[in-house]
Amino acid sequence: TFPKRVKIVEVGPRDGLQNEKNVVPTPVKIKLIDMLSEAGLPVIEATSFVSPKWVPQMADHTEVLKGIRKFPGINYPVLVPNMKGFEAAVAAGAKEVSVFGAASELFSKKNINCSIEESFQHMGGVLQAAKATGIPVRGYVSCVLGCPYEGKISPAKVAEVAKKLYTMGCYEISLGDTIGVGTPGLMKDMLSAVMREVPVTTLAVHCHDTYGQALANTLMALQMGVSVVDTSVAGLGGCPYAQGASGNLATEDLVYMLTGLGIHTGVNLQKLLEAGDFICQVLNRKTSSKVAQASCKL
Ligand code: HMG
Ligand code: MG
Repeated sequence: TFPKRVKIVEVGPRDGLQNEKNVVPTPVKIKLIDMLSEAGLPVIEATSFVSPKWVPQMADHTEVLKGIRKFPGINYPVLVPNMKGFEAAVAAGAKEVSVFGAASELFSKKNINCSIEESFQHMGGVLQAAKATGIPVRGYVSCVLGCPYEGKISPAKVAEVAKKLYTMGCYEISLGDTIGVGTPGLMKDMLSAVMREVPVTTLAVHCHDTYGQALANTLMALQMGVSVVDTSVAGLGGCPYAQGASGNLATEDLVYMLTGLGIHTGVNLQKLLEAGDFICQVLNRKTSSKVAQASCKL
């Protein structure tokens, strides 16, 4: 059985734009987030407070976070890798942050320049400081269905990392198929292992669509009781440290499917399509959303 309502976490402004080669002007990022707010997304990941040497595209994080309209009832979390990022995020007005780790040693090293164990220390520091200031923390686990450097990742390893983030105090754990290689059977096995360690009510899935499996994998997760899904408007996205991986599941496509299933999201598809059109025009790129491509027939 499916959940009655699904919370969509829009990651386009962060995951979607972090990989863009040409710098996207700050006012464009702000307008995109405002349009997504207008469309009724309950959570919009706005930017990341990572090192600008590692990800130059996110160097304007403070201007973006300060420049967006903050709609009541909408959360605008930002990614932080360590205390330096956390402090900068709080100074810029962040009310929620996300920490990120991986179920793969090699990916951890490439993405955040430390081992999984060391990443727990960095994340633990952020979680402690966040707790002291009443800031909720979301946690990501990358490479849950495969790694660009290690290949197969065992469900047991994913469960171990997810449990660690949960016990350290993350209120929600997002399981990322970073390179979009998973299929529904893998998703089922991985989730079964994680659900033995972490309550399903605190789990989210974050599927990239490289192999065209993101919607199917997400549907499997919904059937297993997951009710939080990360998506990206127009299917934008990728990770600079996972070459060749394409964007996330398109928000438009998830909304269309959930509406068809009678599952409530609170998202206005028309306004969402407008936000997707806007960013694709600026980036001079065709949308990756099937629904956006087909919308003339709606
Ligand atoms: P490092 O080089 O090991 O950091 O990078 P360090 O602590 O040794 O410091 C080196 C320099 O960086 C110092 O400056 C620090 O101040 C500075 P210097 O003294 O040389 O002038 N520094 C910072 N500057 C700004 N903001 C900071 C910060 N921290 C240190 N927060 C670090 C380690 C984690 C910083 C780096 O590796 C990094 O920024 N990585 C981020 C990579 C990234 O953003 N990846 C994409 C996001 S994850 C993702 O997309 C996956 C996800 O979508 C889920 C999925 O799909 O699976 C979430
Ligand atoms: Mg991602």
